[in-house]
Amino acid sequence: MRALASFNQLVALARFGARLSHRSERKNTMCCSVEFEDEDRDLSAIRAKGEVLLPLRILAAPSQPDIARIRADFPVLGQRINDKPIVYFDNACMSLRPKAVIEALSTYYTDYSGCHGRVDHSFGTATTKAFKNARASVQAFIGARNPSEILFMRNTTEAINVVANVLRLQPGDAVLCSDLEHNSNLLPWLALRDRSGVEHRVFATNADTSFEMAAFRARLDRKVKLVSVLYSSNLSGVTFPLGDIVREAHSVGAKVLVDGAQGMLSGDMDVRDLDIDFLAFSGHKILGPTGTGVLYGKEELLADLPCFLYGGETVTDTTYDGYTLGRAPDRFEAGLQDYAGAIGLGAAVEYIGGIGKRAIRKQVTKLNTMASEELAKTKGITVIGPTDAAKRGGVLNFRVDGMDSGDVAYLLNKSANLMVRSGKHCVHSWYNARGVPSSVRASFSFYNTPEEVDFFVWTLRDILRFYAN
Ligand code: ALA
Repeated sequence: MRALASFNQLVALARFGARLSHRSERKNTMCCSVEFEDEDRDLSAIRAKGEVLLPLRILAAPSQPDIARIRADFPVLGQRINDKPIVYFDNACMSLRPKAVIEALSTYYTDYSGCHGRVDHSFGTATTKAFKNARASVQAFIGARNPSEILFMRNTTEAINVVANVLRLQPGDAVLCSDLEHNSNLLPWLALRDRSGVEHRVFATNADTSFEMAAFRARLDRKVKLVSVLYSSNLSGVTFPLGDIVREAHSVGAKVLVDGAQGMLSGDMDVRDLDIDFLAFSGHKILGPTGTGVLYGKEELLADLPCFLYGGETVTDTTYDGYTLGRAPDRFEAGLQDYAGAIGLGAAVEYIGGIGKRAIRKQVTKLNTMASEELAKTKGITVIGPTDAAKRGGVLNFRVDGMDSGDVAYLLNKSANLMVRSGKHCVHSWYNARGVPSSVRASFSFYNTPEEVDFFVWTLRDILRFYAN
């Protein structure tokens, strides 16, 4: 087998256990043979031996000092499974954490570990201070006017459910969503419809999943009291034009809730500038701890809304037959909170600020463009979403002819420690409506590298060659 390999591909081959042996030299290249020693690879039969023309600069170290420095911040990236490195391309589901976040979490437990707000002892005041700082960091991260507009939640799902439960929507009102929403921005509204008769209305996106203003306007009228839409799609990576959506919604008196589960790591977000009424997002997708999230609400809206959960923290006073509710954020943060989690989330958004969203976007777009260009040349693969990878953020979701998507994901993981997600990606409604059984999704983050993308493309092609019907 003889193939021409790019510099990145060769670096990837070497990194993932190929033995490159020198055979002969030509101008600027060497001819090498490539061997994989790994006997238990499912794919070893296919690529047991190959010959590549190797640019001489392979002898130099891989060129990406910044990424190497960033990767050193993420301890889990150094994991090896079966003595081989891992490649983590499931970032749309769960991001990894830098040391700064892990240390912020563990410092809470090792150094002060108290309650917030209620107590004046040393641990209590240290907790109150760190919790307050975390809220301020999140406030700055989304451009909120006021820290009390930041409500700590367990995740995006909980935040959307809180809005669905406190907004006092009535029968005859409608909630307008796109046809691309995650289950977390669909079920709360279907359940509200079932229990309260509030209409759940859907507008269509284009065939490539992009937003279409005409379709949105056609479904928007004065019955719509809330527009609840995604920021960026976990299915295709498209980003909705939030400024335009908010303007249109406000023109008919509707409020806007943005499901920011995806997009907050690399996309700019300024809730004041965009005039967003509510924003829900998760910590675990933006380098923060699992079980953390945020609901942002405009101060004047929160002031008028009841609690979702009642109990400690939410009140300023009680008698045996009455209570006085406190103000936001306390009113919406019933009981003791996940202080360590919130403090970890504060560290995560600070870390993101240190890297810079522009730099994050650049790396993610570069990786997605590389991978998409290669997959476009690969027979039997259909990418979901816009052809232009720059419009898909870090998401590369694709269908594979002649193979079950779960099998593809399984083989990538088993043969090469390549972690991707497969299935309906919690957007069952979209797949079911189109008769698409499932898909494979690779999702990139700024700590991923071109070498990993090359390795992914090569491995995927091998799997297709060997297994696809
Ligand atoms: N929403 C998460 C994903 O898309 C779970 O993977």
